[in-house]
Amino acid sequence: MAAKDITGSVAAHVAIIMDGNGRWAQSRGWPRLVGHRRGAERVRDIVEAAPGLGIRYLTIFAFSTENWKRSTEEVLGLMRIFARYIESEADRLSREGVRLRFIGERARLDKKLQKLMAGIEARTAPNDRLHLTVAINYGGRDEIARAARRLAQDVAAGVLRPDEADEAALAARLDTADIPDPDLVIRTSGEARISNFLLWQSAYSEYEFTPTLWPDFTPDELARIMECFGQRDRRFGGVLTA
Ligand code: IPE
Ligand code: IPE
Ligand code: MG
Repeated sequence: MAAKDITGSVAAHVAIIMDGNGRWAQSRGWPRLVGHRRGAERVRDIVEAAPGLGIRYLTIFAFSTENWKRSTEEVLGLMRIFARYIESEADRLSREGVRLRFIGERARLDKKLQKLMAGIEARTAPNDRLHLTVAINYGGRDEIARAARRLAQDVAAGVLRPDEADEAALAARLDTADIPDPDLVIRTSGEARISNFLLWQSAYSEYEFTPTLWPDFTPDELARIMECFGQRDRRFGGVLTA
């Protein structure tokens, strides 16, 4: 759904493709998982800094539907990092008024991890200071296909008429149904591609690509990017009015 709560030119919803953990570690001769662990520490810093920069919604890409192609060791290591992040951050997130939610297809994830995810979502549901959304086993195409399937089921069940299957009906069936569209999408590590992230939701997002590898990304750099965002003209297909 379109972001309605943009105040001035602050990016109220920032989405980040946290890329470059593997290269960060490998350039030091370390295992890729060391980079992922360092990356999780950066998440903590960015989450802490976000509200002070005017960010209400922060969405981060942690694991894509394509990342299963990696070695079992790396995949299992990442899953352990996600579980540890939830366990170790639960108190802090609750205290700081962060609402944590997950998007992506959960059925393929370990049952214990699924339970932890549901638990922290329920625990932080009343929080409203920062809406943190973590994308795990998330793919934009997979999400759209799942939403289309739900639409088809609703039409078949007679809940919805075929002519009611419009943009709003599809958006309401996405994992992000209650979350506004991102104003700004940042990708670290120098790659200038979207890699299946928020395909539907980023239709009119601004993009920022930085060469910084995710484990080196700081709140200072985020603040600089937010400042540049404030100078951009967003036209949404219209004409700039002076
Ligand atoms: C991003 O870092 C984290 C995940 C995709 C899980 P990468 O692991 O992709 O790091 P690079 O791109 O190989 O350096
Ligand atoms: C995108 O990074 C996914 C995440 C950051 C979780 P990848 O490293 O998987 O993307 P590609 O393979 O370089 O496109
Ligand atoms: Mg990568």
